[in-house]
Amino acid sequence: MGFFAGSWLVLSSSLRIRTGPSRFLRSCRRSALAAFSPSFFLLIALLLSPGYAFSQTSSARPSPDPVINNPDLSAPGVEQKVDALLGRMNLEEKIGQLVQYSVGQPTGPGTGRTGDNDMIEKGEVGSLFNVTDAAKVNALQRIAIEKSRLHIPLIFGLDVIHGFRTTFPIPLGLSATWDPALVQQAARVAAREASASGVRWAFSPMVDIARDARWGRMAEGAGEDPFLGSAMARAFVRGYQGETLGAPDSLAACPKHFVGYGAAEGGRDYNSAEISQHTLRQIYLPPFHAALDAGAVTLMSSFNALDGVPASANPFTLTDILRNEWGFQGFVVSDWSSIGELIPHGIANDGATAAKKAFLAGVDMDMVSNLYHENLLNLVRSGQIPEPRIDEAVRRILRVKFALGLFDHPYTDESKQAAAMLQPDSIALARKTAEESFVLLRNSPVENHPLLPLPSKPGTVALIGPAADDPGNMLGCWQGMGRPQDVITLKTALTEKLGADHVRYARGSGYLHGSNADIAAAVEAATQSDLVILALGENAPEMTGEAASRAHLGLPGHQEKLLEEVVALGKPVVLILFSGRPLTLPWAFGHVPAVLAAWFPGVQAGPALTDILFGEANPSGRLTVSWPRSVGQEPLYYDALNTGRPADGVDLNHPPTDSKEKFLSRYIDEPNSPQFPFGFGLSYTEFRYGNVELSTNKLSAAQLASQLSPSAQESNPVLTVSADVTNTGTRAAEEVVQLYVRLQGTSVALPVRALKGFQRVSLSPGETRKVTFQLGPEAFAFWNINNQFTVEPAHVTIWIAPDSAHGQSATLDLTGPMN
Ligand code: NOJ
Repeated sequence: MGFFAGSWLVLSSSLRIRTGPSRFLRSCRRSALAAFSPSFFLLIALLLSPGYAFSQTSSARPSPDPVINNPDLSAPGVEQKVDALLGRMNLEEKIGQLVQYSVGQPTGPGTGRTGDNDMIEKGEVGSLFNVTDAAKVNALQRIAIEKSRLHIPLIFGLDVIHGFRTTFPIPLGLSATWDPALVQQAARVAAREASASGVRWAFSPMVDIARDARWGRMAEGAGEDPFLGSAMARAFVRGYQGETLGAPDSLAACPKHFVGYGAAEGGRDYNSAEISQHTLRQIYLPPFHAALDAGAVTLMSSFNALDGVPASANPFTLTDILRNEWGFQGFVVSDWSSIGELIPHGIANDGATAAKKAFLAGVDMDMVSNLYHENLLNLVRSGQIPEPRIDEAVRRILRVKFALGLFDHPYTDESKQAAAMLQPDSIALARKTAEESFVLLRNSPVENHPLLPLPSKPGTVALIGPAADDPGNMLGCWQGMGRPQDVITLKTALTEKLGADHVRYARGSGYLHGSNADIAAAVEAATQSDLVILALGENAPEMTGEAASRAHLGLPGHQEKLLEEVVALGKPVVLILFSGRPLTLPWAFGHVPAVLAAWFPGVQAGPALTDILFGEANPSGRLTVSWPRSVGQEPLYYDALNTGRPADGVDLNHPPTDSKEKFLSRYIDEPNSPQFPFGFGLSYTEFRYGNVELSTNKLSAAQLASQLSPSAQESNPVLTVSADVTNTGTRAAEEVVQLYVRLQGTSVALPVRALKGFQRVSLSPGETRKVTFQLGPEAFAFWNINNQFTVEPAHVTIWIAPDSAHGQSATLDLTGPMN
């Protein structure tokens, strides 16, 4: 799709991130308090110091952008402190602020130096990461504060992804809760624990849209949908950053990886992405925009090339969109050595060029590659990078450090670190998030009753599989400071519930390796039991997350054989899948009566699973990725375009038999539909959806377009949509009621359905509730053929639905002259 320069100004102004009045008031209140903080005195000292006169002249710059994304960055006083400090910094010290090293555990090829003390002393390092202990953080911070000339604190970062010590379900599991408030609480717990250890910056949330289950990092995000992804992005940011960044238990959030990383071709990690500008704006950018709108103060650039331009040197995304359109005022850090990787990408033949391209495109801080440290000085001295550009990057970093209160409180109270971990309310929250994250995929009758929930006395249970008693695996792909000894496994919880004499445990197989003898022992245990629980799946650290793309999505190793031999015995079998992605298991879905997707549930895996298995909690998780039947369907996502030859109404379970069945957008050897659709999940009860009612069946497209607000949070409702939802079963339950929209007749083709609302609703047995959604104009807005975010005349179908493939619908028209 072409990019129209003429529409640029319109875009720039319409997409500005606005701060609501509440944020403004909060910032005013804080500024009054800030007036007498220690940094106030630092400011006075700086004003009186000889360097200040210099800063007065050197700080001349365009007036600050009136649009800000976090008021903490522009709280009264911050800018003056930043300017005053900047005025005293020499070029080496300025560049030092742009340099980051890892201390300890690498998460990529080791390049550059790591946290050398002499560099910190010289002010040549601005940030360190992978230090996870308050005493160690303090020791390094002490060098910066006490020994460096200007006493500028370091900012310590870490991959705090789904918890710090209290490990929650992996982000894909957290998204399956469809419960942003709960996710926000989990992020708050992570912030409390991490900050008690000296970490004030989380490289999280990962807000990459993932439409291909081959990509291992699908585990780290919120799945395939931009609307749900945006809600989760906001929840994480609010949880990490708290009410104010300056609170000692707040972390700066870092949405990542900007942008298009999840669209890696073939699902192969680090691979290139080709994304049209329409799809970029419609699908991949919204969760980033939402995260910044919620106040995230940093952002990480990604590894991949996007339309041929590596994302860590992409001026279009990093400057035109991020700075000019969105008005982002925080700072951008590269991903691990992604500046150095500009050389193998092929857009730089040496480190100096790589550093120059990344910096000028908009990457403020160099994670690990060491190329800013080695090259920026010469690049400035030789006139290739203007010094005011360096100043701007330094300002962005200093603003965040001031906002976090690091100048006032650079050290962490070591005596409080241990007590902050694994608090009882944190553990209770881990159990609740895990329960809500499980998705019940199948629950067929065994002797005329759905197999789950199990009776409280199910007889003797054979517990089989590599994941049944593997605490390390429950911690998922980013284990943070989680420890296996903090985890309660399924075996432990089940044994506690039923008594050791009622649980027969056999591992049956490893994840990747096994033997016929192990399978035989498991079959023997199953033979002697009344019921079998199989705990199978992936090995989280090796098979999910970064650098863990898979071309085959079945059960790895001998596990499929184990499964089939155990099921062949004819006993009732519950299969619990532990995985960071959906697995293609056609045989299991045809033969195993009960299947539960458990993802990697965190420290409370066992208790949460037994709560669900025995019906103390009712499954309420819903898929946030389409579950494929076979790898060949990938990339697979529900919000696809219809094509000119949709295969609606044709039975795709057999090869085409005539030309009417053939010349369609279809496979000849697999249905188009997923095994389970986005939004799907069973409960121990059933729900009935009533007719959809709309407050009107006509709206003016032009009027809606004029009411669009850049922040979906601030828009006014224009349409009320409601439907009765009834719990027709005998158990209390929570249902995730979903609202989807389709627009037809527009200037560009739009998805067959797009999520625009969801609610978790509690319903007692027999209860009917009218579920009401208030839609703002942006529910009907999209990026049109002229690359404008607007509302066009269209025929609209709206569903209120239990998932993306079902539900009741109603229609309305957006009136106006058709395009
Ligand atoms: C590389 C990963 O891509 C990124 O997500 C992570 O934050 C950094 N390593 C730092 O560990």
